[in-house]
Amino acid sequence: MKDLLGLREIETAEIENILATTAEMKKILTQNVKKTNHLSNKSVVTLFYENSTRTKTSFEMAAKFMGASLSSIAVAQSSVQKGETLIDTGKTLDALLTDVVIMRHNISGAAHFLARNIKASVINGGDGMNEHPTQALLDIFTVKEQKASLKGLKVAIIGDIKHSRVARSNIWGMTKLGADVTVAAPYTLLPKDLDKTKVRVTTDADDAVKNADVVMGLRLQLERMQSGLIPSIGEYNELYGLNEKRLSLAKDDAMILHPGPINRGVEINSGIADAENSFIERQVTNGVAVRMAVLFLLTRS
Ligand code: CP
Repeated sequence: MKDLLGLREIETAEIENILATTAEMKKILTQNVKKTNHLSNKSVVTLFYENSTRTKTSFEMAAKFMGASLSSIAVAQSSVQKGETLIDTGKTLDALLTDVVIMRHNISGAAHFLARNIKASVINGGDGMNEHPTQALLDIFTVKEQKASLKGLKVAIIGDIKHSRVARSNIWGMTKLGADVTVAAPYTLLPKDLDKTKVRVTTDADDAVKNADVVMGLRLQLERMQSGLIPSIGEYNELYGLNEKRLSLAKDDAMILHPGPINRGVEINSGIADAENSFIERQVTNGVAVRMAVLFLLTRS
């Protein structure tokens, strides 16, 4: 692979290879000395057109732990503000002999467009409503650490499915690995194209959570909504929020996941976010290992 753009287009074996490599990277990460020289002769650039805490920081930490030369483009202070196009920005990064560009962009398909037009490897750090592959990989890795395999697991993804690149990448990745995925959202927050996937769709969050092994909450992507798609936050929390009553319908050992950032009292209540079976912080830690694995696999020659 030259690039990692999404989980829709990659083979199950490639996903399994990334997960196996992640397990090796996690061993390095949890040692006292978080250092390898896998990327000692590589140049990595982060190019984020949208805000990020977890993805950007963990990619940067991963690149540094592996010895890469790292540069972060602050888009707001860059020549993008003088009208430079995405292709010209990419060609500039090629001219600077960049090996890997990690990009987040508000337009779906932007990562594919960049990858087609530059020599450097492109990793999609989230493109509009399309995909966020490394987030889904870290979610899947976190589930596999706990449950060994995704085969036959009942996974409920609850929330703003329509605007969620995390949901899309998880739908592709988890179903390829054999999970039985149900998505639940109000009708206005369900995309029209789910018939191309193997997921079950419902507007009843309780029905989705019943007997689930894994329950994932998703943030309302208010920045991608043109107009009010829900009557009120209070009603949304009541009908779709992850709370004690709703989670009591899941299996006793159900894992709670959330990609972050979380909005407490909206899609998840504090008691659930901070519960013993919440893996939200573990997901963040595993994000570094996954990103180390992806950087390693794309740059080894
Ligand atoms: N989950 C995720 O993508 O978080 P950030 O927006 O903080 O990167």
